[in-house]
Amino acid sequence: MKYYFAPMEGITGYVYRNAHRMFFKQVDVYFTPFIVPTQNRKFTSREKKDFLPEHNQGLHVIPQILTNKGDDFIWAAKELKEYGYDEVNLNLGCPSPTVVSKGRGSGFLGKPDQLEAFFDEIFSALDMKISVKTRIGKDSQEELGRLLEIYNKYPLKELILHPRIQKDFYRNEPNWEAVKEAVSLGKNPLCYNGNLFSVKDYERFTSSFPSIDCVMFGRGLVANPGLVGEIKNGETMEKEQLKAFHDEVLRGYEEIISGDRNVLFKMKELWAYMIQMFGGSEKHGKKIRKSQHLGEYRAAVDSLFKELDLKESG
Ligand SMILES: Cc1cc2nc3c(=O)[nH]c(=O)nc-3n(C[C@H](O)[C@H](O)[C@H](O)COP(=O)(O)O)c2cc1C
Repeated sequence: MKYYFAPMEGITGYVYRNAHRMFFKQVDVYFTPFIVPTQNRKFTSREKKDFLPEHNQGLHVIPQILTNKGDDFIWAAKELKEYGYDEVNLNLGCPSPTVVSKGRGSGFLGKPDQLEAFFDEIFSALDMKISVKTRIGKDSQEELGRLLEIYNKYPLKELILHPRIQKDFYRNEPNWEAVKEAVSLGKNPLCYNGNLFSVKDYERFTSSFPSIDCVMFGRGLVANPGLVGEIKNGETMEKEQLKAFHDEVLRGYEEIISGDRNVLFKMKELWAYMIQMFGGSEKHGKKIRKSQHLGEYRAAVDSLFKELDLKESG
């Protein structure tokens, strides 16, 4: 089985990825949050810092690109190749209205003919591995058949399937009927993504889909950064390990982000997930959310770790 860390804009940047790798060694591949190539042919400095090889040493990272323009994709992929990347991932999943209204992300799925022309263009121009992270349709799962027909025409490195449609965002149950369809009709290697939050979820998935040998974790792994270790070796994460990981992420952000407010913003986003690891954490969670300065924040986090234990995993 291959275990991937999903791209999560605002969360899984290089500071987070490096800290994760330092304390939890079990993830095979990390994806960057999406990079958006533009006509001015320049990456933003934030994008560039995120994929620079010196910021990703010892990590297997695949950069993700969000666009619906073949020439922009080709430019970005070639640039990334110059930095040593031999694989790029195309985002066909983002449900955000600002992205979808421009026909990108899951919005691109609603224009299958254009999508096919885009694939023709990028596959004939690039000598790199290209993988795709897709939803099962923009408005309906009925779209999946046509999408698979398109994907089947090209030698994708892999098709990462998040079985929801755009308007689901990240709600509702992932549609496993659609996964069955992709298993039976898809010709490219398949990787599954969606709602794997625990060892039990993982086991239920693998017993339903024994032929799929690749899984990608997002929110479940941000909540429990030790989840893949738990799945692979039955090692449950120790509280001290989570604290040490947290401290390393915080150290990393303090080094590169100026101002308490901005550092706190990033840390609080993480806690929206990690707080779920603790039982009875309402009061502590609130203190963390309300903290205005790093001193206050550290005190709130320290008392959380001192007073509460991690929940029994399940
Ligand atoms: C805050 C947030 C940011 C995300 N950013 C990205 C992104 O940059 N690129 C992408 O392909 N998916 C992105 N996703 C989707 C995740 O990669 C993943 O597909 C989704 O969370 C479902 O998997 P999960 O149930 O394991 O969390 C994001 C999701 C969330 C919640």
